[in-house]
Amino acid sequence: MKETIEKILSELNDLKCSTEKEVEEARIKYLGKKGEVTALFDEFKTYAPELKREFGQKLNALKQQAIAKIEELKSQAATASTQGGGSAEDLSMPGDAFKLGSRHPVSIVRQQIVDIFRKYGYTVAEGPEIEDDYHVFEALNFPPNHPARDMQDTFFVSAGHPNPLLLRTHTSSVQVRTMEKMKPPIRVICPGRVFRNEAISARAHCIFHQVEGLYIDEGVTFADLKQAILLFAREMFGADSQIRMRPSYFPFTEPSSEVDVSCNICKGKGCNICKGTGWLEIMGCGMVDPNVLRASGIDSRKYSGFAFGMGVERIAMLKWQVNDLRHYFENDLRFLQEFETATEV
Ligand code: PHE
Repeated sequence: MKETIEKILSELNDLKCSTEKEVEEARIKYLGKKGEVTALFDEFKTYAPELKREFGQKLNALKQQAIAKIEELKSQAATASTQGGGSAEDLSMPGDAFKLGSRHPVSIVRQQIVDIFRKYGYTVAEGPEIEDDYHVFEALNFPPNHPARDMQDTFFVSAGHPNPLLLRTHTSSVQVRTMEKMKPPIRVICPGRVFRNEAISARAHCIFHQVEGLYIDEGVTFADLKQAILLFAREMFGADSQIRMRPSYFPFTEPSSEVDVSCNICKGKGCNICKGTGWLEIMGCGMVDPNVLRASGIDSRKYSGFAFGMGVERIAMLKWQVNDLRHYFENDLRFLQEFETATEV
């Protein structure tokens, strides 16, 4: 018995199996009903008590070792077969869902602005980002060398050219293109990307988005402009919002005005978002200058109109109290994920 135990121990030590089938064969060989270890136990039963004392422990140890070895080989063979063939993959397991992205806050607010004006009958007009001087400045009543051109720090694509190309500094250029093509009544909004040569900071960027609007018909007055902006402000910032207009200057509108909305955070009491004033500046606007109508072939004695323009990032900042404009352009997922549940109009 002693030699047989030693022989089996050394065989177990060297035992190698490459497939689960071979492991099962080895299990039968040693631990099966007619296996070698089982046979030793049968023999053991016939031993006299003193021999039983001598071999009992050895035999039990052998059996434990055989079981452990077979288990070890079994798990090795199982891993090998998964890595090799892939047949062990459980195709019925539930899958992992891909995480959907969310819309960019600028895109959400741009859509909200567009949807509000669409309800009042405005249609969307788009135009080129690379423009000529005529559509960005000249047709909008900026004479050459007019100081207001400096307000808009332009990026030139071909400076020095008799008709230089430039990156549009506002989407008013799309309004000019619309007036050239359409006859009044005209009611359009022009959303788009604009470019200004500004130092990048928390409050300014060289790229941003605007939505500008234009309404031209017979008998359009400043009262219509005020009403359109009040309706917009109430939909965007809340039904109890108030607006206030401050005189301003733009070459293409006369009279011109800057619009403030009552601060929706402190309800006009004064907080650090509105810097204690109770008001937030949201846009520029005014009555289209007759020179601008004439430049695009519209009879300024028959028609009048108003125009307005706002920065999308600015509206989004006020809506969600974002304190740094640069967040919109850095694609930091922690920032973008905050808008996953933002509702759309
Ligand atoms: N185009 C102006 C700007 O970019 C905004 C504006 C549009 C002002 C229409 C008045 C009327 O600053």
